[in-house]
Amino acid sequence: MLPTCVDTTLETRERYSHDWTEDLRFLPDAVAIPQSEKELQSVLSHAYSRDIPIVPAGGRTGLSGGMLPVKSGWVVSLEKLNRILHLDTDNLIAVVEAGVITQHLQEAAEAVGLFYPPDPSSRGSCTIGGNIAHNAGGVRAVKYGTTRNYVLGLSGFLPDGRPLRTGSYTLKNSTGYNLTQLLVGSEGTLAVISQAVLRLLPRPLYVHTLLLGFPDAVSAVAAVSAILRKGILPAAVEFMEREAVLFGEAYLGEVLYPGARDFGGLLLIEVDGNFPEALEAECAIIEETGWAHGATRSWYAQTAGERERLWRLRRCLGIAVKSSGPYKEEDTVVPRTVLPELLAYVKQLGEEYGFRSVCYGHVGDGNLHINILREGLSERSWREEVPAAVEKLFRFVIARGGALSGEHGIGWVQRRYMPLQFQPHELELMRALKRTFDPKGLLNPQKIFPDA
Ligand code: LAC
Ligand code: ZN
Repeated sequence: MLPTCVDTTLETRERYSHDWTEDLRFLPDAVAIPQSEKELQSVLSHAYSRDIPIVPAGGRTGLSGGMLPVKSGWVVSLEKLNRILHLDTDNLIAVVEAGVITQHLQEAAEAVGLFYPPDPSSRGSCTIGGNIAHNAGGVRAVKYGTTRNYVLGLSGFLPDGRPLRTGSYTLKNSTGYNLTQLLVGSEGTLAVISQAVLRLLPRPLYVHTLLLGFPDAVSAVAAVSAILRKGILPAAVEFMEREAVLFGEAYLGEVLYPGARDFGGLLLIEVDGNFPEALEAECAIIEETGWAHGATRSWYAQTAGERERLWRLRRCLGIAVKSSGPYKEEDTVVPRTVLPELLAYVKQLGEEYGFRSVCYGHVGDGNLHINILREGLSERSWREEVPAAVEKLFRFVIARGGALSGEHGIGWVQRRYMPLQFQPHELELMRALKRTFDPKGLLNPQKIFPDA
């Protein structure tokens, strides 16, 4: 008999057939939405004994197709395991279930004077479990690091239902192999995570926000290294090229920051701390450095409302591009000094292959989101030529010390490029780990690794 939390109605199966990746859809055979860890465990052992593939799902906001049920089977959604179990204000640790919405944890931490820094743009819908599965980054990674830096321990289940516990309720731990960090970024291919022990920080009391306008996009990204050389570590250094601003404004149906669209490239910079005078001085240095490197306009967000508008524009870009039509998103990451060359190369590839791209991202981390728009491209160009251009792009990125993905993961859509980054024996080492956790290959099949 099917576990009671398993739903086989077409409506539900359709709802769980896609995430935010391009326009891809794969219909699962069923969707399990367990209410408790015990129920999750029984779903897993039931499916395992019948060789049913299992695809764990969080908020389904992924951009690499990590939760797509490409081999059918069951999607197991962790959405009902959504309790914040413990906020420890003395040890600065939170224990949460995997289905907690990231923004809910951020707000709960803030309410007690604490801070959970990872801040993906999808924070209102993505979950901690999904963030851990992909090692999500977001807009504060330049100063605070990615999800990985906050995960102290995990609980979950192996594909056959055996419980697994990693790490500890401590800030330090040098005990055995670090399975916690192996699971972070493993994209639901090794185990199903049900709970996490997370590190929190004291909440900075003040945040100052500055926008710098540059006549062209390349000079905006070129200024980033100069700003960081000034001995200031901003909490965020975000980039938007003009096309991105236009897409954002069109999506929101309003001009959020008058004048912003007149610039080829914008840097949105934020500093945080406990002393406003210090932040003002830092902003002045940042502004001066920006101008010395080509900025021709700067704006301070004077009020909370202005700050909110700037971030609303920045945060909507992913969904704005997505809702404009088919596109491919490349989540490139390079040493930040390479950014000007990378941006110029993308535009050069666009001219060569006839596509338009929209670029924005976390340039303080060297992480540039490159969105290639399908628009009027023929089927052949979209299916064959654009992937060839993407391969060139990735070769360029890897040759300069970068990686295929900075924060969105490999999932289903980027796996064909993995051999560009890794040698055959390195990929085999990863496959061997996968077999150790999941000998039957039932957990999130056909992700990360290219077909053998
Ligand atoms: C962002 C998502 C797309 O940076 O990663 O908005
Ligand atoms: Zn991003």
